[in-house]
Amino acid sequence: MTMNVAVCGLGWWGKQIVNSLAKTDKVKVVAAFDPAPPADAIALAKEKGFKIESTYEALLKDKTIAGLILTTPNAFHEQQTVDGFAAGKAVFCEKPLTMTGAGAARMVAAAEKAGKILGIGHERRYEPAFEELFKIVADGRIGRLLSIEANVSHNQFQALPNDNWRKDPKMSPAGLYTGTGIHMTDIFCALAGTPVEVRAETDTLVFDKPMEDYARVKVLFKSGVHAMFSCLSCTPFYGRFTAFGEKGWVEIISEANVDWNRPTHLIVSTAPAERTMTTSTFKAEDTVTANVVAWAEANQGRGTYRFTPAHLVDNTRIFESLVQSAAKGGTPIKL
Ligand SMILES: NC(=O)c1ccc[n+]([C@@H]2O[C@H](COP(=O)([O-])OP(=O)(O)OC[C@H]3O[C@@H](n4cnc5c(N)ncnc54)[C@H](O)[C@@H]3O)[C@@H](O)[C@H]2O)c1
Repeated sequence: MTMNVAVCGLGWWGKQIVNSLAKTDKVKVVAAFDPAPPADAIALAKEKGFKIESTYEALLKDKTIAGLILTTPNAFHEQQTVDGFAAGKAVFCEKPLTMTGAGAARMVAAAEKAGKILGIGHERRYEPAFEELFKIVADGRIGRLLSIEANVSHNQFQALPNDNWRKDPKMSPAGLYTGTGIHMTDIFCALAGTPVEVRAETDTLVFDKPMEDYARVKVLFKSGVHAMFSCLSCTPFYGRFTAFGEKGWVEIISEANVDWNRPTHLIVSTAPAERTMTTSTFKAEDTVTANVVAWAEANQGRGTYRFTPAHLVDNTRIFESLVQSAAKGGTPIKL
């Protein structure tokens, strides 16, 4: 059964989602809203045959629209989500969900009240290499999980004008964390459970202050797992995620950002006392579509969505706490 959706925000990622969804008949983009739609978005609407409304309220009132996909700048996510659920729509919101744990709890509560499922744009959980890593950790092949380390960096936003929201520490705090790190801390939560302490440092290595281009985050989980993430905004693409266990480790090396269609490599070492490794390569899949389709089907009563409300709130609490910790020079923040 096809779900009719509207896309709110037709910048880089809104257009990416429209183009991805054109490949499935499970979700159909029938409308959109953007207060300043770029010329290529207007052309895309003509090509794909969807209308661009002049207000968000027009999408909320339209009875033919069952779902909303929010690809707006971060500061708009929370209110647009709450309004979407209040209008009876299912809502899929891009990351970061919002800026505070309390805000995320409000969004989750709005979904529950509407009897719908809140989607989140953490499509990295659908990458075949990450699906394999989840299996390896769950079936005990690397023993008890002890520690996780990740770094995802790129310089895609370096050339943006300084007044772009991506470079505004209020809209996008902690450098590239809201761009790439929040996907990794989502995976930390899925692997390690409830976070209990966060400490973070941010800095400006290349940009002009107060813009930040470096972040390092450490999260301690109730399960005892220690997890670390770092990112740079001024270096070519780099992506690594390693989970260390008592009996082995598993590592993912990404060649490129999710929209570049490049393979990912998985390395597993399980032999005790010696470093024997197996390496597999996974071709890129359309994880954006997989995630949106899973959300749509879960809202239609088919299948379970991978992201629990607790994952959504916990990851946003990590985000809020790391901003607080960085502002205090790396002071640990208890959650
Ligand atoms: N899941 C991912 O991998 C991924 C990748 C890129 C971006 N994103 C997320 O997508 C969102 C958008 O990022 P982007 O790179 O496309 O930004 P962008 O700046 O390229 O586009 C944002 C668009 O939203 C429009 N807009 C502004 N205010 C609006 C409002 N109130 N209602 C509707 N539209 C509004 C702007 O006019 C612009 O066209 C961000 O939250 C970002 O974190 C997710």
